[in-house]
Order: sequence, then C-alpha cells, then structure tokens
Amino acid sequence: CGIVGYVGHRSAQDVVVEGLRRLEYRGYDSAGVALVEAGRIEWRKRAGKLANLEKVISEEPLPGTTIGIGHTRWATHGAPNDRNAHPHLGHGRRVAVVHNGIIENFDDLRARLEDDDHHLVSETDTEVAAHLLELQVASGEDLTTAMQRVCQMLEGAFTLVAVDAQDPDRVVAARRNSPLVVGVGEGENFLGSDVAAFIEHTREALELGQDQVVTITRDAVSVTDFAGREVEAKAYHVDWDLSAAEKDGHDWFMRKEIFEQPHAVADSLLGRRTRTGELQLDEMRLSDQELRDIDKIIIIAAGTSFYAGMVAKYAIEHWCRIPVEVELSSEFRYRDPILDYSTLVVAISQSGETADTLQAIRHARLQRSKVLAICNTNGSTIPRESDAVIYTHAGPEIGVASTKGFVTQLVACYLLALYLAQVKGTRFGDEIADVVHQLEAIPGHMSTVLDRAEEVYELARDHVGERTVLFLGRHAGYPIALEGALKLKELAYIHAEGFAGGELKHGPIALIDEGMPVLCVVPPKGRDQLHGKMLSAIQEVRARGARTICLAEEGDRSAAAVADTVIELPKVPVLLQPLLAVVPLQLFACELATAMGHDVDQPRNLAKSVTVE
Ligand code: G6P
Repeated sequence: CGIVGYVGHRSAQDVVVEGLRRLEYRGYDSAGVALVEAGRIEWRKRAGKLANLEKVISEEPLPGTTIGIGHTRWATHGAPNDRNAHPHLGHGRRVAVVHNGIIENFDDLRARLEDDDHHLVSETDTEVAAHLLELQVASGEDLTTAMQRVCQMLEGAFTLVAVDAQDPDRVVAARRNSPLVVGVGEGENFLGSDVAAFIEHTREALELGQDQVVTITRDAVSVTDFAGREVEAKAYHVDWDLSAAEKDGHDWFMRKEIFEQPHAVADSLLGRRTRTGELQLDEMRLSDQELRDIDKIIIIAAGTSFYAGMVAKYAIEHWCRIPVEVELSSEFRYRDPILDYSTLVVAISQSGETADTLQAIRHARLQRSKVLAICNTNGSTIPRESDAVIYTHAGPEIGVASTKGFVTQLVACYLLALYLAQVKGTRFGDEIADVVHQLEAIPGHMSTVLDRAEEVYELARDHVGERTVLFLGRHAGYPIALEGALKLKELAYIHAEGFAGGELKHGPIALIDEGMPVLCVVPPKGRDQLHGKMLSAIQEVRARGARTICLAEEGDRSAAAVADTVIELPKVPVLLQPLLAVVPLQLFACELATAMGHDVDQPRNLAKSVTVE
C-alpha cells in the first residue's frame, strides 16, 4: 500500500492526491484521503484506481485545509470495495487512520472492541487501530501518546498514519516492519511510504527505524520509540531527478524504463574501478578478510529479483568457485536452512522493502550469517538491516514489473562475483579485467537491441489472443526464460512458462501443440556443447508443431535454421547474455499487453513492493 501524510501551508488535498498518484504503484485496489477541518474529519474513499477517488472529490469537493492523510491500497483483509478502502475512522469520527501491513491480533482486538459496543463497519484489520486510537485521545491523551500506547497493543507489521480532528496541527505515524519515510520541508513536513510521495516538494528525508513513532507539525519532526523515548532519525538527501518520475512521452513508465536500461547499466558500472584497474565496491561494508572467510553463499529474493539471483549463481560459482544456493525469500526460513558465520546471504531487492526478503535476512542474521543487500532504494529497510550493500543505480522504477531494476541487479551480481574472485584470488583472477571491459560494452549492445524494438513489437502484436506461450533457455539463459514467462503472465495475463531446454523432454514437451509459440534463448556458440544441445531442444518442439522464436547471437546460422523467427543479439559471453536476452522479452510482453488493452504499469492484483508476508 502507499501512504501519505502532510501538514504545512499548501492545499493538503493537492499534496496528498499528488503523493498518492506517485505511490500508486504500491497498490491500486482502492484509494482515499482524510483532511482535518474545523474540528471535523472530512474524508473520501473509493474502490479501484486513484482516478475513481479523484472523480468523487471533484463531485463532492473537500475543504481547503492544509493537513491530511491518504492511502492507496493493495488489499489483504477484506475485498477491495469502498467500505474497506482507507481511511478508517474511530467510533466518534474523531480520528482517521490509514495503514499498510497486517495487524495479526486484530481478531482479538476487534472482539474486545465489539464487546464494549464498538460498531466496526469494515472487514479490515485497520479499523481496530482507528477505534483504539480514538479511545486514547477521547480519554485526554494527545495523538502522539495515543499512537505509542496503541502500537504496544498491536502485533504484526504495520505503518499507521493518523490525524485527530481536535488537533489540526499534527500528523502522527508509526512503523513496525513496514516502510515509512519523512520528508522535511520549510514550514511543512511530509510522510510517505517512499520518497516518491513528496519528491516534488523536498529532497530532504529522514529514515525511521523499527518500532518508532513520528510526529510531524508544520515546523517540527519528532521521533520516539513506542515507549515514548526520544530517538534520533538519520537524515539523507534524495538525489533522484524529478523527471525520472515522469513518462517523458512514452505511453508507459515500463516502456520508458526499458529504454533507460543502457543508461542504468552504465550508471551501475560507474566508479567501480580504481586507477590501477582493480575493482572497488564503494558501499561494501564487509572487509576483504570477511569475504575470504566465506565458504557458501545463499541468495534470497522474490519475483524478478529471484531470477537475477539465479543468474548470479552461474557467475559466482564459475568465477569464484564458492557454492551458491538460490532460494525464494518466502521459503527460506521455513526450510531450516544450514547457515553460520561463514555463510554470506545475499538479499536482492529492488525496493528494499519486500517483507518476505526482510524476514529472511533477519533469520539469516540470527544464525550469525553476514548479509549483503543488492538494492535500488536508498534508506530502505533491507540495506539498513544488512551488513553490507551494493546499490544499483537504476533510478526510481515505477512500472510494477521490474525491468531496469532487474538488469542493474544483474550488473551488481556480476560485480559482486568479480570482486569475490579478486579478493579470493581465484584462478580466474586474470580474466577479471576482460569481463569488466565486456560489461562496459553492454550499454552499447543494449542500445543495438533496443534499436530493433519495432521487429519485436510486430511479433508481439501477432500473438494477441494466444492462450499459452512457452520459453526455453539453458545455463544463464534459463532464468531469462523464466523471467520472460513471468513478464508475460504479469502484464498480458497469458499462461506462460519457462523451462530449461534439457528438461523439456522429461514432461513439458507434452504441452506442445500445433502453432504454439516457443521463445528460445539460444546460448552463444562456445567451447562447451550448450549451443548444440539447445538447438536439439528447439528441433524437438519444432518437430511437434511449435512456432519457434529464437533469440540468438548475430550470424548464428544454425539457430536461424531451426527458427521461424530470429531476434538477433550482439555477441557477448554466455554469462553476460542475460543482460541482452531479457530486453526483447520485456519489449514483447509490454507490447503484447498494450495491444490487448491492459494497464502495463499497474497490472491487476499486483503491487510494486509487497510489504506483507
Ligand atoms: C513484487 C513486484 C515484482 C518484484 C517483487 C520483488 O511482487 O510486483 O515485480 O519483482 O515484488 O520485489 P523487490 O523490490 O524485492 O525486488
């Protein structure tokens, strides 16, 4: 969910609704705002996208006040209807609350409130917090103290933001395991799930820790723990350019972000080499000795980031000779993984807030493992709670389906692998400089692939109405097949699956039907037999009627011979090919979904950053 809070001198409605627009990628099942006006709470809320809320506001205008809160929802408890939309109000409509997360003991709390004759109107867990807060302020506490008290009663993960009709000067928020940042302005202050909420008004932000309550007034920000003790919040400057959060003439943020990839990759490589050619990772906070002591790596991530982790396994094992496991964050701690101080856990997360990944790194740290985060979002929770971090420099990613986030994660994974090889002094050591050079050539190659976007678009438009699309890959191309399939599911709602080329004959080949499209990531010709083996798999599906679309190296005539359509990729080593092969698959999914009339930036049922487990 996306959350906004504001107190200052501008129209709160404008600031809050604009903030919600920029946070809509965090959830778009419903939206709402609440403003404080002359001792009353005025609120509007609606199911569906923000546009529905804006329509209600235009029909039933809100007062021109300068304090308010807002919410855009990704539903957990209760269907995404008007009633369950936030804000929720207390029994006397004095307090309004918006919430992100899950209050796990809400059943108990609700029963207790109902026993005391409270009438709750929604099915949400949030409404109990509104009632509890209102009980506190009605008994004479100020909203800050009320929030501290209520938070002590709540279990689970939450960000709460509240206003009190009787106190038109403050907005109070709290967080536990769920994101919240403060934007510091002049004569105005902001709260947001992330900095996008207020970036057009201020670049000065404060990070909050776990279990903290923050109170903003026009001129001050104060932070305490749940017991009311003052704590210091860390200030930071946001260096995002506001234009990064605009579509720049593209129809979708996602399309714009696909085309930003050459630039994003180049930025992620900047400043990584010393004058003598050695690799350096600025943000790395683990010493070389600590890295030398590592004897196992476990990579944890969710969604697209998980596929970046799968590619990383091929690179790290090959270059560093350290065993690597890759695990879905949501599964990790439940399988009782074997970890100790010599295990490095690498958490990959674009947002730095994915709850499954956050809980997984906490589990790893309890087992004394070192945790390194690969993350795109400064000041987010996962890097804060890790021992080391490599930031990807993709800039804000707004399209819900990750693109430039993914390729910059790949770059960070390659850099980590090369750095480990450097400090460990592996046999591969002499080749590090070559790989760095090859990486530096990637932005140019990516631009070449993007220059041919129109060919991919035509192909995509040809597949409108398709029921199933399969993707094949081998080696580092296998995760790319999985990612290609995920993109198509996410955006076009088409049944799509990715398979390892060699596994096909063990079952999935039964799916092949006359004319079924199969997109194949063909590895470059090399010393091993990968290329030939992949071609055999393609022959096998073709023999059974599949329509084969091959992503293959320029001039690969043997791939062309088994392909109905060829998409050419510039020549790069197999381990780096994912950076290029993923691009046509992103373009394919984006264009196919567009042709089918779907909202590419905000696909149904998804959210950019899932902060509940
Ligand atoms: C959500 C998004 C996916 C993303 C995944 C992991 O499910 O819809 O696009 O890949 O979260 O996100 P993270 O921010 O941890 O990389």
